[in-house]
Amino acid sequence: MIDEIRNLRNQIATEIGEITSKELLDNFRMKYLVKKGEIQAYFEKMKTAAPDIKPIIGKELNECRQFAEREFKVLQEKFATATETKVDIDMTLPGRRNFNGTFHPVLQTLEDITEIFRSMGFTVAEGPDIEDGYHNFDALNFAPDHPARDMQDTFFVKSDRELLLRTHTSPVQIRVMQSQQPPIRSIMPGRVYRNESINSRSLAEFHQVEGLYIDKNVSLAELKATIMAFAKRMYGEKSKFRFRPSYFPFTEPSAEVDISCYLCGGTGCRICKHSGWLEIAGCGMVHPNVLRAGGIDPEIYSGYAFGFGIERVTLLRTGIDDIRLLYENDLRVLRQF
Ligand code: DAH
Repeated sequence: MIDEIRNLRNQIATEIGEITSKELLDNFRMKYLVKKGEIQAYFEKMKTAAPDIKPIIGKELNECRQFAEREFKVLQEKFATATETKVDIDMTLPGRRNFNGTFHPVLQTLEDITEIFRSMGFTVAEGPDIEDGYHNFDALNFAPDHPARDMQDTFFVKSDRELLLRTHTSPVQIRVMQSQQPPIRSIMPGRVYRNESINSRSLAEFHQVEGLYIDKNVSLAELKATIMAFAKRMYGEKSKFRFRPSYFPFTEPSAEVDISCYLCGGTGCRICKHSGWLEIAGCGMVHPNVLRAGGIDPEIYSGYAFGFGIERVTLLRTGIDDIRLLYENDLRVLRQF
């Protein structure tokens, strides 16, 4: 019987070596380790053995059972962790995407605008965000009682109203004229501030690009051609534009430029207030008083100027219909551009 038990142990060792799955391990348990299993059967058999060899058989059998149980446990643990790892690595899950940062759409627009004007020979100039009343208003031919000078419309830095947050980029025109001789051909991008309530169409802080061209015999036709060349490159050949007479203190004559509405294509909708058109720029021939304030003789030189809002241009090209979305820093919005 001792030999039988040793054979059994060898058999168990061989079978253990062949177990490759949970199912096979379970078969093994059913075969050897349960009450009706083969090991237990030998314990039953042992009862009939001669009393003097019973302890030897018992010892042999116990060792055999311990061996089988030990090996079983090892395999059981192995298969348990294997299933856990299987759960950990779910090959059907989508991978984690690497997120690359992008330029903010307003900055992208500014870069494209700059690139287009650069290719037409314009240089880039900048001025201070905190301006004085002279550059922001007086030098630009604003009347002393112009409403823009009111606290309701402008953020003043000092109560004497001498320093303010510039309400437009036009004061940079004056600074450029004061520091350069014609011919001048510059664009002037920057941040501007207005004491306005915030809604889907306007913010209290936004960006503008100013343009200025001064030389001998500059004509309104050149202004129109420049704006049209820019707008077609920015918005595509198919967009429609119109020039509408308007008024600005610093230009005479003045005009506003409209583009056909990107949303309705001109039939009229909420965005264009049912007119079919959206205003994109103000422009005109530089007023003689403004040339004088810039130290340029209006008898010799003439020029044109224009200005537009960068956020507005961004809305038009992205199709975003609420200007506030540009500054909420919601990645779901920003990642689209
Ligand atoms: N400064 C104007 C504004 O903020 C925009 C503007 C209009 C600029 C006409 C110009 C211009 O240079 O010629 O509304």
